[in-house]
Amino acid sequence: MSGYSYEKVVEAADFLKSKFTGSVKIGIICGTGLSALGDDVEDKVVVPYTQIPHFPESTAPSHKGQLVFGNLGGKSVICMQGRFHPYEGYEAWQVAFPIRVMKLLGVETMVITNAAGGLNRSYNVGDFMMVKDHVSLPSLIGYNPLWGPNDERFGPRFIPVSNAYCRDLRALMREVADSVGYKERLREGIYCNVAGPSFETIWEMKIMLQLGCDAVGMSTVQEMIAVAHCGMKACVVSLITDYCVIDYDTDDKVDGDEVIAVGQERAADMRKLITAFVKRLPV
Ligand code: HPA
Repeated sequence: MSGYSYEKVVEAADFLKSKFTGSVKIGIICGTGLSALGDDVEDKVVVPYTQIPHFPESTAPSHKGQLVFGNLGGKSVICMQGRFHPYEGYEAWQVAFPIRVMKLLGVETMVITNAAGGLNRSYNVGDFMMVKDHVSLPSLIGYNPLWGPNDERFGPRFIPVSNAYCRDLRALMREVADSVGYKERLREGIYCNVAGPSFETIWEMKIMLQLGCDAVGMSTVQEMIAVAHCGMKACVVSLITDYCVIDYDTDDKVDGDEVIAVGQERAADMRKLITAFVKRLPV
């Protein structure tokens, strides 16, 4: 990972180790509008990103920019209230930096959320889409956190990402969704990653649909590549915050404020799902 040496990741991890005691095996990332999940963490220690050595700054609207350590669903967790996005101007290795820090803190399983636009015509705003796989034009053409010299201490040069969205965790998430009454609402599909921050053109969205993608968003994939590289497991759930408009004869269009508002409105439901999932994680 070009801009960060191993030592810088160690420095950030060591700083955080001085802030909490005990081991933490579960990492959570709260997506746009979904930070409320971190507020549910009990007995918490909160560390603003600005205090952590080498951590990027969180500039995206509604992203609080702090790490929360504590208990959720009876498990020790570390929760990122706010993530880094390519559109903030960060390099892919900066976007993925917190994943490596969490790895050094002992995290083995990541639970990642995001806000996404619904491409699949059968999706409704407010649905959850568990990510089965991704298509990422940015990472295919080089916006990849592993671009540049490889540090074997994190993982090998070439890595498969074909089971990054862990099959076992997806099965567990389906079971959990069923048990909390979200059986119909939990979809499973393909996440198309775009760089943003402009939303997609109508024709771009039509192409994504032709490619079999079910939802589109501006985050997560660079984190997931780092997750796969350092041998962690992950489960990713998107909240469908808008229905992608692919009709030239309407003035309806996606709106960034609406994406945040829907995230915030549905944050309680996401919280319920993720907390129940964390409770059932075999760690
Ligand atoms: N497009 C891209 N990113 C998004 C969208 C969208 O429609 N909704 C939430 N994030």
